[in-house]
Amino acid sequence: MTLAVSGASGHLGRLVVTHLLALGVAPGDIVALVRRPDAVADLASRGVAVRAFDYDRPETLAAGLEGVDSLLLVSGTAFGSREAQHRAVIEAAKAAGVDRIVYTSAPMSESSVNPVVPEHRATEQALAESGVPHVVLRNGWYHENYLRDLASAGQAGEILTAAGDGRVSSASRNDLAEAAARVLAGDEVGRTYTLGGDVAWSVDDLAADYSAVLGRPVAVRRVSGEEKAAILASFGLDEGTIGFAVGVDAAIAAGELAIDTGDLSRILGRPTAPIIDTLRAGA
Ligand SMILES: NC(=O)c1ccc[n+]([C@@H]2O[C@H](COP(=O)([O-])OP(=O)(O)OC[C@H]3O[C@@H](n4cnc5c(N)ncnc54)[C@H](OP(=O)(O)O)[C@@H]3O)[C@@H](O)[C@H]2O)c1
Repeated sequence: MTLAVSGASGHLGRLVVTHLLALGVAPGDIVALVRRPDAVADLASRGVAVRAFDYDRPETLAAGLEGVDSLLLVSGTAFGSREAQHRAVIEAAKAAGVDRIVYTSAPMSESSVNPVVPEHRATEQALAESGVPHVVLRNGWYHENYLRDLASAGQAGEILTAAGDGRVSSASRNDLAEAAARVLAGDEVGRTYTLGGDVAWSVDDLAADYSAVLGRPVAVRRVSGEEKAAILASFGLDEGTIGFAVGVDAAIAAGELAIDTGDLSRILGRPTAPIIDTLRAGA
């Protein structure tokens, strides 16, 4: 059984390969699909096969997928191009006779306001249309997303939010990667999991964790989306970044990133790691 992981040079993909090895999958049964093979020399030295694979270069897709039974398609990073990129991979997988695709999506509802959702929704649609048996992993927010703001919140003494009292069931990349590895190494199809951490925290909880990690008080400043956009613009942020930040807050306010499925801890067979562990490790 040959298992391939795209984006294997990235944070999540690399962890998935590591978890596959820890689960006992033979290195020779794992294919790391990457744009730059030198980026995963460490995985190659452990016996993992490494193949060139670029969502934007169709000529790499067929060769990369030759003989692959199950593919983990890790969503790309090029916002605005991802639907086309993912469709190209799904078509190539179908043509190559891949039996099963596992895809890293995002939590979504019909009325989602999360800016990342449209491309994920389109990819889920493409998977359904392809007829290739698949599993969708709707990954919630990473704990690691909140490392970026830790230092600045410490300096400013506050977290600026337009998310109101919305809660976030974030999870560590490591937990999401282990879940992806377990699903990829299994054989189920036709499932959609929505994966989040066991704890749905509020921004007040996050501020308390930031304070504990930094050893100084961090307050919460609640503003409207318009106010947050104006404040971020005054810091010189570009329109796209501002729209994304305000859109994510709106999604949190709407409860889109609070996940109570229990899917993640069920797949792992243990509780998920709390956000403060990630903050402490990365501070
Ligand atoms: N749930 C969340 O909170 C959250 C947060 C951030 C991102 N995400 C999504 O989850 C994915 C995995 O997260 P991550 O932390 O591992 O992100 P990451 O560290 O940025 O890794 C992204 C991976 O995608 C690869 N990639 C990008 N464009 C590609 C292309 N055209 N062809 C082939 N590979 C391509 C990158 O390859 P290179 O090494 O060559 O650049 C890298 O391996 C992201 O790509 C994004 O879609 C989710």
